[in-house]
Amino acid sequence: SKDLLGLRDISAEEIQYILDTAKTMKYIVTSNNKKTAHLQGKSIITLFYENSTRTRLSFELASKYMGASAANISASSSSVSKGETLLDTGKTIDMMGSDIIIMRHPMSGAPHLLAKNVRSSVINAGDGMNEHPTQALLDMFTILDKKGTIKGLKVSIVGDILHSRVARSNIWGLTKLGAEVSVSGPATLIPRDIEMLGVKVYSTVQEAILDADVVIGLRIQLERQKKGLFPTIREYSRFFGIDDKRLKLAREDAVVLHPGPVNRGVELSSSVIDGEQSYINEQVTNGVAVRMALLYLLTRRGSNNEIVD
Ligand code: CP
Repeated sequence: SKDLLGLRDISAEEIQYILDTAKTMKYIVTSNNKKTAHLQGKSIITLFYENSTRTRLSFELASKYMGASAANISASSSSVSKGETLLDTGKTIDMMGSDIIIMRHPMSGAPHLLAKNVRSSVINAGDGMNEHPTQALLDMFTILDKKGTIKGLKVSIVGDILHSRVARSNIWGLTKLGAEVSVSGPATLIPRDIEMLGVKVYSTVQEAILDADVVIGLRIQLERQKKGLFPTIREYSRFFGIDDKRLKLAREDAVVLHPGPVNRGVELSSSVIDGEQSYINEQVTNGVAVRMALLYLLTRRGSNNEIVD
């Protein structure tokens, strides 16, 4: 389609196609010559209403590695701070000839609204508590790279599930590719309807991690919590933090992922973050490859939205 707004909306085959394309792109990211002409003549804009290090920079580098013209605009330094609406800002960018607008916004559904009103393709770089599809794609790419398959794997997501767009996108994507997904966290941070998405819910981290092939730690999103919400950081770390002892409950060859930024010593201990089972750094590299693949695929749409070779 024209846009990538969430993994809820795309098929297992489309996800697999993106991951296969990213495999080729990873050779470019890890080579000494990160210059291709795949996006020559294309214009890519990142429009971020929330802070970001990884997502924004990896999209910018992905664009530049493939020869596109890339520019960033953030809400705080743009006319958004003067009261301009999202649609007016989007249309302004569109009229400058952009091909893809990559947007992060605190409101769920904001990229969907933008996509309906601009000619450019829109990529959702995180909308409120809804989805963060490119993060889940890079997580799936990393799992596939380490495990060779996703089908049948036991994936345990631990942390602030309620506020996590990463958890939602991973649940959509991983279950479509046949993983058995479970979530765990304090009761106040587990959405009531989460079992309807086909995941198991565990009330203790020990049960959740037991025999897991993949453990994904999530950040406690203090910025999205109402004041005084239980648990405190110290309580969270005590009951749900993953250290070496708890990680031993997972399979011996389990891999540990985290979307970042990590609160060291809260959701994961430093020894787990920096340990042999952690692929958190590799996730960052894979994020560039996956985003290169998406930019490439979205700019190769024909008039009927099919991919043009
Ligand atoms: N994982 C992630 O989205 O990180 P940033 O907020 O740094 O982009």
